[in-house]
Amino acid sequence: TQGLLTYDPGFMSTASCASAITYIDGTQGILLYRGYPIDELAQRSSFLELSYLLFHGELPTPSQYAEFMSKVQAEMLVHEQLVRFFTGFRRDAHPMAVMCGVIGGLSAFYHDMLDFAESRDREEAAVQLLAKMPTLAAMCYKYSIGQPFMYPRYELGYTENFLHMMFATPCAPYVPNPVVVRALDRILMLHADHEQNASTSTVRLAGSTGASPFACVSAGIAALWGSAHGGANEAVLNMLDDIGENSEENIQRYIERAKDKNDPFRLMGFGHRVYRNFDPRAKVMKESCDEVLDALGMANDPKLQIARRLEEVALQDPYFIERKLYPNVDFYSGLILRAIGIPTNMFTVMFALARTAGWISHWNEMAGHPHRIGRPRQLYVGPTERHYPAHAPND
Ligand code: SDX
Repeated sequence: TQGLLTYDPGFMSTASCASAITYIDGTQGILLYRGYPIDELAQRSSFLELSYLLFHGELPTPSQYAEFMSKVQAEMLVHEQLVRFFTGFRRDAHPMAVMCGVIGGLSAFYHDMLDFAESRDREEAAVQLLAKMPTLAAMCYKYSIGQPFMYPRYELGYTENFLHMMFATPCAPYVPNPVVVRALDRILMLHADHEQNASTSTVRLAGSTGASPFACVSAGIAALWGSAHGGANEAVLNMLDDIGENSEENIQRYIERAKDKNDPFRLMGFGHRVYRNFDPRAKVMKESCDEVLDALGMANDPKLQIARRLEEVALQDPYFIERKLYPNVDFYSGLILRAIGIPTNMFTVMFALARTAGWISHWNEMAGHPHRIGRPRQLYVGPTERHYPAHAPND
């Protein structure tokens, strides 16, 4: 319980920390956000309500939620000068490269205005980041395809607004399929937080120096980009594309490659540093994948068939069984994002959009408690002390 946790600043200055936000039991496959099981939240909550829960520690009352939602919606419009930020990038720049830059650039708009020692200003930073991430993510996509940016619309819900900014044009509105909106909102919830993963630890370490939360989130985006972390959903789709035809021979070839220590290939979407059981998010994601592809008439999608067969074969293979390698959150999420029409190079941007809720909550948790600058220790394995030769070697 909260009473058992003590925020020991000294403890936080090492490579690990105390936190009350997310609990994972990797052996049992349990994931709790502020004590609530992820599958309950994914079925009954919404991304914005869950973001409030992660940040404040309690579910909002109806009036608190209405106030929070209107604050976020009112701030989704970005400063018009940020539009010019994009023109410095090539159209084919990876959207994660653009997001690293543009989110870090938000520091320039808010740094002198907010005092992060004040909880009111820390919540303002959270509202700004939750509000502007979907707008800037959609702008990355529009810029890459040469379409005009679409402004948010105040009458739309959070996730529907994002889809509007992604897929509407001045010539035609985006008409959302409610199943798609719900599925995307669920993907955002499933990716919202995951305790001290690489990108969240990056945000906390940067934040421990007193850096702006916008710059900290930019550092988190950079860490998330790697294919071993948030880039895995994109890598899963690329892997399914590489497998090509859904044949036993092709499936087995990739299973054998994943087991071959001389081959750097790993089965994307499989394995996890913490889970030695099913990733509870993967179970919800798999059900959501079936629901969305069925609703969109894609139940027989060849990539879905390959994914299902790959999972089936791997889960029966001694190599994966011995190492307790199961599908993780990324194994099915890419198939849903692709079905929604989100391009592969935007998949990790979607992960960053969702993880902003966790990043800013962890930053707030640390900034709101006494803490020392993070200083991970090292094991020195270099040469012992030695002295420069009498004659300089390069005389
Ligand atoms: C995320 O930390 C988080 O919480 C991250 C995340 C979050 O929400 O923030 O959950 C999001 O990053 C999910 C993971 C997404 N990445 C992938 O799907 C990429 C593929 N997975 C692997 O790269 C790997 O499983 C990791 C990176 C996820 C975990 O790597 P570890 O912790 O280094 O794995 P390990 O050392 O515990 O592996 C043990 C054994 C090794 O073999 P041996 O040396 O014992 O013979 O399992 C092998 C590994 O080679 N192994 C795999 C494998 N994953 C581990 N072999 C083949 N395919 C794989 N996917």
